[in-house]
Amino acid sequence: AFIVTDNCIRCKYTDCVEVCPVDCFYEGPNFLAINPDECIDCALCEPECPANAIFSEDELPEDQEVFVELNRDLSLIWPNITEKKEALADATQWDGVEDKLEHLER
Ligand code: SF4
Ligand code: F3S
Repeated sequence: AFIVTDNCIRCKYTDCVEVCPVDCFYEGPNFLAINPDECIDCALCEPECPANAIFSEDELPEDQEVFVELNRDLSLIWPNITEKKEALADATQWDGVEDKLEHLER
């Protein structure tokens, strides 16, 4: 599956959801999660993310491993999102800030 990682937190640009052929993105307050059982590994979302936050699980940076389980767990409790909306107001300030996990809202 493809995994949404740290740099999505507090940005949530949502460009990714528009291209997903199986609509497997789920929306939290300041992060999106991919349901790994629904993702068909088409790779279309990866280049769409302005924050470069999406990786194939095979190419996941080592320090992002925690997001495998987070995507699975959060996708099961959050509502589905299929249409792009405005990014969070201060997305540009948070884009590129490292280790935003402490800011993840459930
Ligand atoms: Fe959707 Fe394809 Fe991205 Fe998986 S890899 S989340 S199926 S766009
Ligand atoms: Fe997040 Fe990138 Fe999608 S910032 S909402 S993974 S476009």
